[in-house]
Parts: sequence; C-alpha cells; structure tokens
Amino acid sequence: MPIVAVSNQKGGVGKTTTTLNLGAALQAAGKRVLLVDLDPQGNLSVAAGIPDVDGVYPSIGDLLMLAARGKPAKAPSIGGAVVHAPSGLDVIPSNGTLSAAELGLVSAMNRESALRNLLQPIAASYDYVLIDCLPSLGLLAINALRAADGVVIPVQADFLAMQGLAQILETISAVRDQLNPELSIYGVLLTMVDPRTSHAREVVQTVRQGLQGEVNVFDTEVRLAVVLKETARAGRSVLDYDTSSPAADAYRALARELMARVGDAPSTQTQKREAPRPSVVPKPAPDPAPPNDPIPEPEVVLAPEAAPDADMERTGVVPAAAPSPQEEIVRAQNGTAAEPPQPKLVPGGAEPLEFEAFLSGREAWLGSASR
Ligand SMILES: Nc1ncnc2c1ncn2[C@@H]1O[C@H](COP(=O)(O)OP(=O)(O)OP(=O)(O)O)[C@@H](O)[C@H]1O
Ligand SMILES: [Mg+2]
Repeated sequence: MPIVAVSNQKGGVGKTTTTLNLGAALQAAGKRVLLVDLDPQGNLSVAAGIPDVDGVYPSIGDLLMLAARGKPAKAPSIGGAVVHAPSGLDVIPSNGTLSAAELGLVSAMNRESALRNLLQPIAASYDYVLIDCLPSLGLLAINALRAADGVVIPVQADFLAMQGLAQILETISAVRDQLNPELSIYGVLLTMVDPRTSHAREVVQTVRQGLQGEVNVFDTEVRLAVVLKETARAGRSVLDYDTSSPAADAYRALARELMARVGDAPSTQTQKREAPRPSVVPKPAPDPAPPNDPIPEPEVVLAPEAAPDADMERTGVVPAAAPSPQEEIVRAQNGTAAEPPQPKLVPGGAEPLEFEAFLSGREAWLGSASR
C-alpha cells in the first residue's frame, strides 16, 4: 500500500497538520497507518502526543545516521523505532538528530535511497505510510520523494505560498526523471482557506484554474480553523479532539479522496481506537474548556469541477491555444525554445494581475509533473 510524502518546501503551509489528521482519518476508516516524522523540528511527533521527543531513541535521525555509516549489526531495527503515540497513531519520531543525519547522508552511498531502504521492511505491515517532510528541498526531502509512491502537496491559500507551488512541482519532475519514475502526485491540498477574504478565494481559484487538467487538486479544502492549532498543543488529532468539527469533516473527506485516488476502499469495519500503550507517558490533559474559536468554521466545501466557461467568466482567464506540431518543429529548427501557450487575461476580467505570473509560467514548471 502506498507511501505518501506530504511535501512542500514552503514552511507553515499545513504539512504536519495534514499528515496527522489525514493519518487519523485513514485510521478511522479502518486502515493501518504509520506516520514518519521527517523534520528535525519534531512537530509531528509532538502533535501526535509524544512527550520529550529530544529523549527518544531510536528516532528516524538515529536510524538514518546509522544507515549513512553502514549499519552496524547491533543497530536498532525500524520496527523498534515505532512509537504508539497517545493520539492512537503509530509514529516514527524525529528530533534534532535528523539534522546531523542529513549531513552524514551527504557522503553516503545511495544517499537518496536511505529512507526508502529503511522503510521497505516495515511498509508491508501498514496500509498507508505518511511522511511529514521538512520545509526544504534538500536531501531529506529528496529521500522522501524517492521513498514515496505519491505526494500530497498542502498549499496555504495565500499568494506567496501559491508561488512556491511551481518549485515543488519542478522538483517532483526532476525526481521522476532521475530517481523515481513511478512517483505520482496524488493531489494539491488547499489549506487554511479563509473564504471570507477575496484574497483566499482568488488563490483557490487561480490554483484550481492553473492546474486544471494537469495536476489533481483535491476537491476538499481545509479551512482556517483555530481548533487545528489547539489539537497540536493537545497532542491529539482533530478527529479525536473535536470529531464533529468542520476541520475533522474536511480530513475525513480528504481521506476518502486519497483512498479513491489510490484505488483503495474504506474497510467495512471501522478500526477501534486502541488505548495508548504505557511505553509513552501521555501529556497532561488538555484544557477541557470548549474551544473559543473566533473564526467561524463554515461547512467543508467540496468544490465541484468548474466548467471551463464558468471559470473563464469568473476569472477572465482564457487559455491560449497550444502550438501546432508544425509550429513546434519550426521552433525546434530555429533553435528557439517552444513558447508555452500563455493564458491571456481578458480585459476587465475579475482576475487580479498579480496572479498572471503564476499562470503564465504554468507549462514551463509543470514539466512532467502533470500525471
Ligand atoms: N487549517 C488551519 N487553520 C488554522 N491553523 C492551521 C491550519 N492548518 C495548520 N494550522 C496551523 O498553522 C501552523 C503551521 O501548520 P503546520 O505545522 O501543519 O505547517 P507545516 O507546513 O508543517 O510547517 P513547517 O514547514 O514548519 O513544517 C501551525 O500552528 C498549525 O497549527
Ligand atoms: Mg511541519
């Protein structure tokens, strides 16, 4: 079953929140789930409820460090690194050791495949392995993309975050070309969407429009919800902390979309949440006061696939026709790089000009990412 990298080099876009809550939603659908924290910040480990991540041994960093040195016979196994966290999820935790491990990997044999080799013996014991990547496109992130069958790309509904999307798609193209031709993009996930602001609505519309027909954008959008900050502090998933919240609904909907994407069906029997094993001391009980959420959490919206005409009407963006094969041959003969078809902005269209750059570079950075 799939290994899923939750990746975006942009920081703070919802990778960790998505890994934890998507994992919890898959588990609630009866799937066996393993979360791998691949960030020296250890945020996923903490958000899953593991206390004192700095004292954890072996962490993913310890295992990668040993792998980089050529694993000694008595090295701990990957199975020994799995912690059944208080949130009810199996987690391979991380801490600052991972930074040292990354340095160690630089000169190692098969340095891009170290994580893949580590995960191989344990992946078969789980239906889904979700890797929470760090905000970088360095060697660790490349290891995650090498180990993964597919990628979920959280993108905050914010103009600058949207700009970073091009970079991760380019990296995925490069990893496909050189390391992992089978790597899929399961989808781009719009996060922290605040539907009250026109800015967020424009970003959502631009991302959907820009990737239409090329890269899947999940119908599910995760809206801005303070409860998701509270759950991280409480060391619990939102499905556990406030199961009837729109945020929990969103992650359940995302899990269904992902399962459909990988051709998996929810198990008929919902998995019971096991009591935490005593090996990990649960964090102090969270503040029981009901969340005082100043941000209204409207119902989760499943955005329908917009008809091209409807989109055009809303955004004023008209896709330009692709060059004919003859045009391409002439360009190749002249040695001029084929100009990607540039979407044009219809005068008076609703799309603000700042989004033009994102759309116009589309063909160039999509590369082979569009599958
Ligand atoms: N939908 C949301 N609504 C409100 N806050 C959110 C939402 N999703 C995530 N957050 C909060 O935003 C912050 C960043 O989220 P998160 O840690 O998941 O991002 P990240 O991409 O993993 O960050 P990093 O790049 O540092 O690893 C956290 O405080 C998290 O609780
Ligand atoms: Mg994170």
